[in-house]
Amino acid sequence: MLERELLGNKERVNRIKNRKDEHIIICLEKDVEARKVTTGFEDVFLIHRALPEINLHNVKTETTFLNHRFSAPIIIEGMTGGTKRAMEINAVIAQVVEELGLGMGVGSQRAALENPQLEETYRIVRRKAPNSFIVSNIGGPQISMKYDIKKIKRAIEMVDADALAIHLNPLQEAIQPEGETIYAGIIDKIEKIVNSIDVPVIVKETGAGISAEVAKMLEKAGVACIDVAGTGGTSWAAVEYYRAIKSNDEFSRDLGLELWDWGIPTAVSLVEVAQSVSLPIIASGGLRSGLDVAKSIALGASLAGLARPILISASKGYDETKKTLCKLINQLRNVMFLVGADSIEKLKNTPLVILGRTADWLRTRGFKLEVYARRGESTV
Ligand SMILES: Cc1cc2nc3c(=O)[nH]c(=O)nc-3n(C[C@H](O)[C@H](O)[C@H](O)COP(=O)(O)O)c2cc1C
Repeated sequence: MLERELLGNKERVNRIKNRKDEHIIICLEKDVEARKVTTGFEDVFLIHRALPEINLHNVKTETTFLNHRFSAPIIIEGMTGGTKRAMEINAVIAQVVEELGLGMGVGSQRAALENPQLEETYRIVRRKAPNSFIVSNIGGPQISMKYDIKKIKRAIEMVDADALAIHLNPLQEAIQPEGETIYAGIIDKIEKIVNSIDVPVIVKETGAGISAEVAKMLEKAGVACIDVAGTGGTSWAAVEYYRAIKSNDEFSRDLGLELWDWGIPTAVSLVEVAQSVSLPIIASGGLRSGLDVAKSIALGASLAGLARPILISASKGYDETKKTLCKLINQLRNVMFLVGADSIEKLKNTPLVILGRTADWLRTRGFKLEVYARRGESTV
């Protein structure tokens, strides 16, 4: 039976709140990264340019995404809300994002939709970041089971969002003992939402990636952007594995262990989506450096998203978060210099090669990799 059928509203809200704090604690204290599978970015090589013919100080990282100006193509992925700790984390990230001219998402707003007293834990983001690109967040299973358009509009208004993210997390829901594995018909619900709200809809995974087939369904449904959130970074099978150990749930524990590395590696997912649809893409899932950001943009992403590394920094405070993001932007600028790209537009067209397992996967699935190698003046 589903959680909502078993529990009263108050108890359910408490459980959602506790779960959000448990997720934060596990993501801060345990090793929840993919183990045997990597993002695939290690198979992607941007071509070094010994004659960049540009000056480092002239490299510009500004970009426009869904009509909003970003100082660099970086967004903090939706993570949290609903508790005091979550609010503190949201506040720190929002302050830094506003100062640096980036964007961010809030975590699933389910807790506040079920208990309006928790709205402030999300609203804080808009208060601290009045000019930044802010993304609202709601889960696929929730839109499938119970949330009508009115509730979804409330989530958007709560943070005066520039876009709505609908997250897909079938892996996590399958492992969670209280998981909501109601995924039939979600694509129709997504289409209805797209046609009923005034902000663009981003559909995101949560660490298991989006395939070409799913990307085509989403494009047909009219979504404005796909966030691939692929495998190689935070593993939700791992997070639920640790929760299962705590609650002595052998079935969930073993399923979490078995599916720890399940999913489509981020670099693979990014190429699959980029070569299948003509929508803006956010690359995320295991991005950990400015080099990963640069590779993402060169592979076709409009923005690069990071979650857990920013959670870790935010738990240490404002200075650490600002330092982490400044380092990331600095790394991106230097990589752009080394490939002779003084703008994000030029970085999008820089030559690169894809080798190894990532190339094997993509070729087996019928994708063409030569197009990247033959870009621009490097054609031999
Ligand atoms: C503590 C934590 C909570 C998260 N909660 C949400 C959420 O509520 N909604 C969502 O769409 N994604 C959520 N995510 C997933 C991230 O947005 C992201 O897709 C995923 O963590 C992969 O990125 P990473 O490898 O950089 O962490 C969460 C991630 C973390 C670390």
